[in-house]
Amino acid sequence: MTSRPFERVTLIEHPVIARDLTILRDINTQTDDFRGALKRIAVILAYHALKELPLSTFPIETPVRETTGYDIDQDIIVVPILRAGLGLSDALLQFIPNAKVGHLGMYRDEQTHQPVDYYSNIPEGIEEAMVLVVDPMLATGGSADDALSYLKKEGAQHLRFISLISAPEGLQKLDENHPDVHTITAAIDEKLNDDAFIVPGLGDAGDRYFGTT
Ligand code: PRP
Repeated sequence: MTSRPFERVTLIEHPVIARDLTILRDINTQTDDFRGALKRIAVILAYHALKELPLSTFPIETPVRETTGYDIDQDIIVVPILRAGLGLSDALLQFIPNAKVGHLGMYRDEQTHQPVDYYSNIPEGIEEAMVLVVDPMLATGGSADDALSYLKKEGAQHLRFISLISAPEGLQKLDENHPDVHTITAAIDEKLNDDAFIVPGLGDAGDRYFGTT
């Protein structure tokens, strides 16, 4: 794990991620393999995103003697940005089965590349919770920027953003507009092309995950 070049960004490096990113990037990968690879990387990202959660302690009895037990001492709200974010959220729920889930519906206008909001449903308790916003692609950063601003307006104070592939342009935007938000990502790619697609990227994550290409 290495931090670079943005202070609030953690790039997770792992052989399984390198292998599975290759599967995701490959234009010939079919939907079933795409889903499998995305879910495996999501587990690694979730593990790292949850690393610094506070713990409470309490006494428990093993069959042999008393010892100290631990529980996670932090409410968690997972917020996938629809649609593609849904592919990442299950991994977090595997680790935190009692997490609440909010949904933000956004798509990027193909001409203007600006995010368009179409749905939001955020659970109560957002002020105190650790809010983990998930979206596999951070391209211009417009969608993530809007999502984080909206959640802050709703009262969120502890936010993290988890993405699979990030473009420097998107990281720059989050660095400027949300310096308080830590981003965890599996790849920092080269740049955006003229259509605001990440290069080399993997194309449209939502379409490839849901088989709508
Ligand atoms: C993609 C992706 C992000 C957004 C990234 O979603 O999943 O939400 O675009 O682009 P940005 O950083 O430039 O805002 P898309 O609009 O394709 O919607 P989908 O998830 O429904 O496919």
